[in-house]
Amino acid sequence: MKQAVDNLYEIFKSITDIDINNLNEGDILLPTGKAISPSAAAHCLLEMKRTAIFLRGIKKAIDQKLENLDRAINILYAGCGPYGTLITPLLTLYSSDEIKITFLDINQISLNAVEKLVTNLGYENFIEDYVLEDASNYKINKDYDIVISETMQACLQNEPQVSIMQNLIPQLNEHAIFIPQQITIDAYLKNPGKWNDKKQQRTGIESKILKALFSVNKTNLDTNHFKEIVQIPENLNGFIELMLHTTIIIFKDEILGVNDCSLNSPRKFYEFKERYANSIEFWYSLLPQPSIECRVLDFVEK
Ligand SMILES: C[S@@+](CC[C@H](N)C(=O)[O-])C[C@H]1O[C@@H](n2cnc3c(N)ncnc32)[C@H](O)[C@@H]1O
Repeated sequence: MKQAVDNLYEIFKSITDIDINNLNEGDILLPTGKAISPSAAAHCLLEMKRTAIFLRGIKKAIDQKLENLDRAINILYAGCGPYGTLITPLLTLYSSDEIKITFLDINQISLNAVEKLVTNLGYENFIEDYVLEDASNYKINKDYDIVISETMQACLQNEPQVSIMQNLIPQLNEHAIFIPQQITIDAYLKNPGKWNDKKQQRTGIESKILKALFSVNKTNLDTNHFKEIVQIPENLNGFIELMLHTTIIIFKDEILGVNDCSLNSPRKFYEFKERYANSIEFWYSLLPQPSIECRVLDFVEK
């Protein structure tokens, strides 16, 4: 995987002139979250497991659609970045009679780059359109079979994934596939283990699920329902950290779980050292920036 993404990066970089050396230059701050810079979007390619599992899932979705439809399938790629990473490598496997792609991004530099890339690689016949729009309020003018958007970070923070799903999914036909199919946030308790001098690392690290918090998918898009109260067990037995895990179902059995890539990094929300809470409420807020919020409802009496 590492070799494959490194090789792709060299090719994509040399054609587009977009590299990963200006990660923080050119972010666009939208009311719905941050659209990361062309360089940072290019860097996503190098998250090898993310790229591999997305590509596998998207290939399965395309194959399923091709099996059931007697025409070219229409794909909208919302937030394609400069390389169109989650579809470009698959174009070798299909013909332009089978798939038609609309590339959409809010960033003109990324859109120009992806156009240069596919033209240079000789894939221009696959492309229906290049659209410079905000996917969180874009009005769809075509009956898409598959929509792809990876505009997220762990715990659905900062980037506009949820707003984009809220805008695009209700505009799709009921058989359309949105990728990723589901993003789930779960609360875990973690025992951070102890530093082991001999092994020069922490040992005894363990995690156990506390409660599923919420999932966003085709039928669950209303963030008003993204809230949950978590009861903290009386005896923590060393499981003193409360972490949130993000699991992403790309398509069917192609799933990104804890620590597979940065999108699945566990985030620490609490460390119960001296006193700990009885119950904590979690909820998701879209404004001013997408993030999971929480508050202790009641502390344990000492
Ligand atoms: C995390 S990068 C992913 C790049 C590429 N799709 C990949 O997976 O490697 C997100 C991309 O989505 C774009 N983006 C973010 N929010 C957007 C929005 N609301 N509308 C359109 N594009 C957006 C950014 O400009 C960036 O190119």
